[in-house]
Amino acid sequence: MMLPARCTVSVTSADRVLRWLGAGFACLSVNAGAADVRAGARKAETCVACHGPNGNATLPGMPSLAAQPAMHTFLQLVQFREKRRRDPQMSPFAEKLTDRDMQDIGAYFAAQRPAAPGFTADASKAAAGRKLLDLHHCGSCHMPDLSGQNQIPRLAGQNVEYLVKQMRGLKDGSRRDIDGTMASAAQALSEQDIENLAHYLASLK
Ligand code: HEC
Ligand code: HEC
Repeated sequence: MMLPARCTVSVTSADRVLRWLGAGFACLSVNAGAADVRAGARKAETCVACHGPNGNATLPGMPSLAAQPAMHTFLQLVQFREKRRRDPQMSPFAEKLTDRDMQDIGAYFAAQRPAAPGFTADASKAAAGRKLLDLHHCGSCHMPDLSGQNQIPRLAGQNVEYLVKQMRGLKDGSRRDIDGTMASAAQALSEQDIENLAHYLASLK
């Protein structure tokens, strides 16, 4: 595949991503500064049917996008479009988006306030989950308040079934990740750990 002559990279954490992207397909232009929140709101109109008003999901198994780091949303959309991540419901919506659309959409959802979590955790599972988070230092990447940063997603208040499905998928490889860091973090987690972690995370503000 031909690489475009110009390639704008102004977000440092894009560098690693570009390395794995670089071999397979066209260089992406990652320029968070240029993203347009208002254009993103318009481009995200079809998304809220599943991802909820302002990206606060209420349907079972559906991820919230509100307050996700813009870089994370952008990179996941790229992965869906390039068929590196697949989902029968989600994939068709990523197919038609340009890099620019994805940047604008990422900026829009990053600017939305997360709703109070509508999930009531099982208290003993949540307590076990909290211990596991400390034990595995999940907050060193996902941030101590689990709000995410750059390409690393927000986990606080995320939908519980979605969290379980993603941790299983990252562990067994059915969801490929950008650079292998999360796949390796997931290897240590048992089925019970995954459930406990999801209960704790889904109930966080
Ligand atoms: C028909 C329902 C549906 C619609 C409409 C939809 N999505 Fe999704 N989306 C999903 C599902 C289901 C998943 C979770 C897929 C999985 O389990 O891996 C998802 C996952 C995502 C993720 C990954 C979240 C994460 O934290 O990794 C992003 C980003 C996303 N969607 C963005 C969008 C955008 C932007 C639009 C509109 C252009 C959109 N979606 C429209 C169903 C939908
Ligand atoms: C070394 C850094 C790192 C550590 C430690 C880490 N993660 Fe992650 N995690 C990531 C990255 C990066 C992603 C995005 C994966 C991708 O590329 O799709 C991610 C994704 C996830 C997702 C998917 C969320 C979504 O919105 O799709 C979950 C759930 C998750 N991590 C949970 C955890 C838990 C629980 C721990 C501790 C046991 C943990 N992570 C430790 C880096 C890390």
